[in-house]
Amino acid sequence: MQDKTFKALVVSESGEKQYRRDIMDRRIDDLPPGDVLVQVHYSSLNYKDALSASGNKGVTRKYPHTPGIDAAGVVEESSTATFRPGDAVIVTSYDLGMNTAGGFGQYIRVPAGWVVPLPEGLSLKESMEYGTAGFTAGLSVHALIHHGVQPDQGEILVSGATGGVGTMAVMILTKLGFRVAAVNGHTDASDYLRQIGAQTIINIEEATDSSGRPLLKSRWAGSIDAVGGELLATTIKSIHGHGVVTSCGNVASPDLPINVFPFILRGVTLVGIDSQNCPMPERMETWKKLAGEWKISLTAEAVEEVSLAGLDRCIDRMLNRGHRGRTVVNLTDAVN
Ligand SMILES: NC(=O)c1ccc[n+]([C@@H]2O[C@H](COP(=O)([O-])OP(=O)(O)OC[C@H]3O[C@@H](n4cnc5c(N)ncnc54)[C@H](OP(=O)(O)O)[C@@H]3O)[C@@H](O)[C@H]2O)c1
Repeated sequence: MQDKTFKALVVSESGEKQYRRDIMDRRIDDLPPGDVLVQVHYSSLNYKDALSASGNKGVTRKYPHTPGIDAAGVVEESSTATFRPGDAVIVTSYDLGMNTAGGFGQYIRVPAGWVVPLPEGLSLKESMEYGTAGFTAGLSVHALIHHGVQPDQGEILVSGATGGVGTMAVMILTKLGFRVAAVNGHTDASDYLRQIGAQTIINIEEATDSSGRPLLKSRWAGSIDAVGGELLATTIKSIHGHGVVTSCGNVASPDLPINVFPFILRGVTLVGIDSQNCPMPERMETWKKLAGEWKISLTAEAVEEVSLAGLDRCIDRMLNRGHRGRTVVNLTDAVN
């Protein structure tokens, strides 16, 4: 078994700050030690994978490396009683795909503490349609509800709405009866945003105030932000009294140019979302919701399926802001 080979996307340094991606044969023996060996059926593409696959050393320190922060598959070997060969499982987050060989390979070996049994109601493929993006959207929606935001309080603004986290957030919120305003992409994506459920489309210029005013007209009951920077600052200044904003991403900027007035004069709550180290009980609970009462079905416009061979162009597209919705990677047919 340990000699068995499998296909994986391997990113290597090819020169000073230059990286190449190849589909290569790897051996089970090449995988790091761990409790559970999983044959990966599906993975998915997230922004962090695109960073890892392009040599971002803040995400991945050492190359050659196989990215893929998401994996869903079937246990092949397990040294713990918690998981048995044949169990269908999801592995996302922790160090998977960062400095541990990830889901862009047909096998992963990981600690048992990283593994979530596939919840009833989800297929392996559906779990990767969500992937880390959907899981993060789920945590964000949960945070809004947990802090008291309800559908009758007004619109929820979702930024980065054409992307993975944003698309899933728009769809889950819409399913739960919230009215959603979505921030448009850098090329017009209003048709797409309406298809996934947004009722109001906000252009990025309208969503970004550069006046430096500490408070703006109150407009949103809550917000899910994946963008950061001035857009997030503008949103926080535009939230209704006692409204809630979640922050999970920094595609525009990690900075937050703001003062404390929205917090001390309007009682706004800013909730940080960290899917990577989300504790296991909350992780299982969120997956159960995504498989059950929050379950959404992605339209053909919101999800595409590729093989390992098709992944390269999707990574480049994501880095160049041409990506939309979710990309699921089918590892059962690695190269066609
Ligand atoms: N904290 C966590 O646990 C967690 C989990 C998952 C993801 N994240 C983070 O969330 C962010 C989004 O991830 P994703 O997987 O959804 O990425 P994605 O699919 O590439 O989506 C990115 C979204 O952001 C928009 N965008 C990109 N650059 C922008 C800019 N400069 N200004 C405004 N909007 C911009 C894109 O729209 P257009 O390019 O069309 O304009 C797109 O809607 C990333 O920062 C990721 O690292 C965090």
